[in-house]
Amino acid sequence: MKGIILAGGTGSRLHPVTRGVSKHLLTIYDKPLIYYPISTLMLAGIREILVICTPEHSQAYQSLLGEGSQWGIDISYAVQADPNGLAEAFLIGRDFIDGQPCALALGDNIFYGAGLSGQLQELAQPRHGAAVLAYQVKDPERFGIVELDNEGRPLSLQEKPISPRSNWAIPGLYFYDANVVDIAGQVKPSDRGELEITSVNEAYFRLGQLYVTRLQRGTTWLDAGTFDSMLEASHFVQTVEKRQGLKVACLEEVAWRKGYISSDDVQKLAEAFNNEYRNYLVSLLESTPSAL
Ligand code: DAU
Repeated sequence: MKGIILAGGTGSRLHPVTRGVSKHLLTIYDKPLIYYPISTLMLAGIREILVICTPEHSQAYQSLLGEGSQWGIDISYAVQADPNGLAEAFLIGRDFIDGQPCALALGDNIFYGAGLSGQLQELAQPRHGAAVLAYQVKDPERFGIVELDNEGRPLSLQEKPISPRSNWAIPGLYFYDANVVDIAGQVKPSDRGELEITSVNEAYFRLGQLYVTRLQRGTTWLDAGTFDSMLEASHFVQTVEKRQGLKVACLEEVAWRKGYISSDDVQKLAEAFNNEYRNYLVSLLESTPSAL
C-alpha cells in the first residue's frame, strides 16, 4: 500500500506564524509536526510516501525529509496550488498511486498508544473498499462524524455537523483500495467549496464498502491545527517522553525497529546530531530492537 501525507492548506488559524512557515514544519515538542504522520504510515508498514504541500513550502519539506532513504523509505513530493479539499490528494497523487491501494494521512494528525502499530498494519492490508477509524470525542461538531450501529457498522456520515448524530469522529487517517482515484474524481465541491474526504467515504458507504475500526480508549488521537491544540500535543509528547524515556515518532527509531535500517545506519544518523536526540539514538543501540 502507498501513502499520501497532506501538508498543504493555508494554515489561516495559525496566522501570523504560518505566513512564513508551513504549519506541518512547526514544532510539536522536539520534532516537526510532519514527523508524526510519517511515523504513523511507517508503523502501518507503508514505505512509499507522497508528501503534498503548498508550492511555496515544497523546498523546505525536501530539505527536511529528503528522499526518505535515511529511514529506509521512499518520499516523493507534489504540490497543491490551492486548498481545494482533502479529496484532491487522490487527483494530485493519481500517478503516484498508479492503480495501487493508498492511505491518506492528514499532516496535522497525531496517533499514539499501545497496540496501535498492530491495528495500523491490519488496516493497511489490501481489501475491497475503504477503512476508516472512529474515535470518541466530546466536540463532534469539529470533525467528520460516523454514526454506528450496535455492531460498529456505519449508519451515516456527516462533515462538521451542527447537530452531530454521534460522538464518533473520523480521524485523519484513511485506507482505500485503488478505486479511490475514480471515486475522488466524481466528488463535487461542498457548500464550503472543498472536495470533502467525507464525500469519498460516503461513496464507499453507499457501495457497502466502508469499514470502521473503533480506536481503543487507551489510544491518543490529537488534531494539532490550532495554537492550543499544538501546545496540548507538545505537552502530551513531552509528558510521555519524559516519563518513559522513549520518544514518540522518532523516525530513525521506527525505521530501525521495523528493520528498514541497520544499527550502523542509526549510528551514522546519530553522528549528524549534537544534542539529546543523538544521545537517544545512541542509547537505542544498547537495547534490543524489539518489534513495535
Ligand atoms: O482531523 C480530522 C478531520 O480532518 C476529519 O474529522 C474531517 O472529516 C476532515 O474534513 C478534516 O477536518 P479539518 O477541519 O481538521 O481539516 P483541515 O482543513 O484542518 O485540514 C486538515 C489537514 O489537511 C491540515 O493539516 C491542512 C491540510 N489540507 C487541508 C485542505 C483543506 C491540505 O493539505 N489541503 C487542503 O485542501
